[in-house]
Amino acid sequence: MKLKRIGKIPSNEDLKKYLQQRSIPIKFCYPKEGGNKWHKLRSNNKYDLGARELTAFKGSLPDIKTVIGAQPVNLVHLGPGDGIEIPILFETFMLKGNAVYTGVDISEQMIYNTVRLNNSYFSDINQLWYIADIEAESNLELICKDVKKDGAGRNLILLTNQGVLLSNPQTLENLYDSMQDQDYLFITIEGDDKDKRGEICSTYDLPEVRSLISVGLQRAGYKPDKGRFRTIFNKEKSRVEVYFKPANEQEISCLTSYKPKEDDFIRLLKGSGFEIQFMRFYEKVHTFAVLCKKEKQDVQSKL
Ligand SMILES: C[S@@+](CC[C@H](N)C(=O)[O-])C[C@H]1O[C@@H](n2cnc3c(N)ncnc32)[C@H](O)[C@@H]1O
Repeated sequence: MKLKRIGKIPSNEDLKKYLQQRSIPIKFCYPKEGGNKWHKLRSNNKYDLGARELTAFKGSLPDIKTVIGAQPVNLVHLGPGDGIEIPILFETFMLKGNAVYTGVDISEQMIYNTVRLNNSYFSDINQLWYIADIEAESNLELICKDVKKDGAGRNLILLTNQGVLLSNPQTLENLYDSMQDQDYLFITIEGDDKDKRGEICSTYDLPEVRSLISVGLQRAGYKPDKGRFRTIFNKEKSRVEVYFKPANEQEISCLTSYKPKEDDFIRLLKGSGFEIQFMRFYEKVHTFAVLCKKEKQDVQSKL
């Protein structure tokens, strides 16, 4: 298995800097034991958010395949987690010619779990694996270029079930910088539904979610049982926010996950330079599936 490390994985020193702003981004929770905690959460049938995302993922993949056409395309899968999407992905997309499957994750354990749990799918395909923080500038750009060196000449980037990554504006900037005109970006994300905000928030109160978030708190020296968690839906920012309040200290922000409304989401994507090629909102599970390209610039604005 070819595994490359790109850039720097945030350390405990970096965590201290975030803590000064009373924040512990969830990316500090995924490496090492966090990979197995994620697998436990993803295997729990009460993890409704994950089931909703898979409905949109599975439902829209055939259409995505039709839109992008039959020429070979590399799949650049951002944060595959434990690889639950892999069977659906490979049953729809056959890699053709020199096309490569590429898994990118901040956590080596996630990559290990993805391969171990989906061994039969990986036994005879071209594959590349990268350990990288895709929220940091230029890592993803390097990866997307590197994949094309030996792979096909175009990429389909998958950012699926990644509301947390999409709540960081840097993520869309990094994606834009990583894409060329022939590339596609596929997003699935749970959206807002004003009548279901209780249901949306309740996923974040599952014991398995708290256990995952606790990895970051413990790395920062906190005892998760010596404090209180609080989950809210921030209507202004269209996102779920999870906080931890340690005894005698100010609250710490532990997770933010973007839950867009359709108009705002379209505005965000267009404003970030993307052109929407396909969009469907799965109303029952209030989840979007979107396929984008980079917006075509006219010759004048390219000069
Ligand atoms: C919410 S899980 C989604 C996993 C998968 N798409 C699914 O639906 O099961 C997030 C995944 O993205 C990875 N991840 C989170 N932040 C990241 C970052 N900044 N850079 C790279 N990978 C990241 C995590 O390690 C994990 O595998």
